[in-house]
Amino acid sequence: MTSSSSKSVSKKTMGKKVAGKAAKAPLLFAVRNSKIHGKGAFSLTTIRRGTRLIEYVGRRIPESLADEVYAEEDGKPSHTFLFALENGDVIDATVGGNSSRWINHSCAPNCEAVGEDDEGEEHIFIEAIRTIKPGEELAYDYSFEFDEPHTKKLEQKYACRCGAPNCRGTILVNKEPKKKAKKAAKKTIKKTVKKTVKKASKTAGKKAGKKAGKKAVKKSKKAK
Ligand SMILES: C[S@@+](CC[C@H](N)C(=O)[O-])C[C@H]1O[C@@H](n2cnc3c(N)ncnc32)[C@H](O)[C@@H]1O
Ligand SMILES: [Zn+2]
Repeated sequence: MTSSSSKSVSKKTMGKKVAGKAAKAPLLFAVRNSKIHGKGAFSLTTIRRGTRLIEYVGRRIPESLADEVYAEEDGKPSHTFLFALENGDVIDATVGGNSSRWINHSCAPNCEAVGEDDEGEEHIFIEAIRTIKPGEELAYDYSFEFDEPHTKKLEQKYACRCGAPNCRGTILVNKEPKKKAKKAAKKTIKKTVKKTVKKASKTAGKKAGKKAGKKAVKKSKKAK
C-alpha cells in the first residue's frame, strides 16, 4: 500500500534509516486503541489547521522488495507499514518507524500526507487540514492505488471502517472509470500509430502504439 507527492531519492540513502525532522518537538498525539482499526493516533490538544504533526519515517526500499518481503498470505493483504514514494521506493516504517505509522485512514480525514523534496530526497509529513479537537482520532486518506482494475472484490479486500458519513467503503482511491481509461488509452495508441506510420513503416507504428498504451496505464501502486 501507499501515497504522496514527487521528487527522487538519492541512491546514497536507499535502504538506510531516515531521521525524523519533526521528531524533536513533543508529539501532539498519543497512540491508543482505535475503533477504526487496531491502534490509532489521538490528539492530545487542540491542533490548528496546517500544523505539521510528524514525519513518516522508516527504511527506504524499492517497492519490488517490499512486495517480496510483505507478500500476501491466502489472498489476504499483509499488514504493513508502507508509504509509496513517487520514485518507486517505499518507506517501510516497520524498520526505524515512529508513531506516524499508527495513523489510520479516513474518507473524511482531518490530516493529509504532504511530500516535500529535500536535496533530491522525498520526505513525507502528516499535517492537519482543519482544527482538530483534543481526543479526536487523526487520520488521512490513504488513497491506495493498484495497477490492476479496482474491482468490487479488490475494494472489499481493502474495506474501510472509518465510519464517516461519506465513507466510500474502501481504502482504495476512486480510479478513472474503466471505460474512460480504455478510451483514453485507445486514443493515445491511435494517435501515436498514425504519427509514426506517416514517418516510417507500419511495424514501427505498432511498436510505438504499444508503448503509448502502456503509458496510459502507468504503474502507481500506493501504500501506507
Ligand atoms: C499503518 S497501519 C495503521 C495502524 C493500524 N491501525 C494498526 O494497528 O496497525 C495501516 C493498516 O491499518 C488498517 N486500517 C487503517 N485505516 C483503516 C480503515 N479506515 N479501515 C480499515 N482498516 C484500516 C489497514 O489494515 C491498513 O493496512
Ligand atoms: Zn471510509
